[in-house]
Amino acid sequence: MEKVLITWDQKQYGLGITLIDDQHKKLVDIINKLFNSLLLGKADNSVPETLKELIDYTNYHFKAEEDLFHIYYYPKTDEHEFEHNQFLTKMYELMEKSKTNVNVVSFELMQYLKDWLLNHILVSDRKYVPFMKAKGL
Ligand code: FEO
Repeated sequence: MEKVLITWDQKQYGLGITLIDDQHKKLVDIINKLFNSLLLGKADNSVPETLKELIDYTNYHFKAEEDLFHIYYYPKTDEHEFEHNQFLTKMYELMEKSKTNVNVVSFELMQYLKDWLLNHILVSDRKYVPFMKAKGL
């Protein structure tokens, strides 16, 4: 049976913007998938593939948010994009390292991913909600 590292709780993590909530849920699903790959010890095959899926979807999601920031001239765009870029840089470095040492995808890393994502949603993403809602989203 699949194990769950993060349980999506709409009340707690939902921002009330469907497009964004759906993307955040998908990120949670991929993190849970990576967690299961790790638990099952499929280190040699599904971990790199799922890590790449996570990075690709993270890129897609960040771009979707940033497009909204630019369309509506969100005033905190720079600081938010800085956070996105810092995270992505770290993830790309990790993917490079994982090519020669798959053990970099560890339970510590899973905890980091969980903490980073939930904190980013609850603190940084939540900041744009009143602004975007005022724009009709
Ligand atoms: Fe939902 Fe700023 O990432």
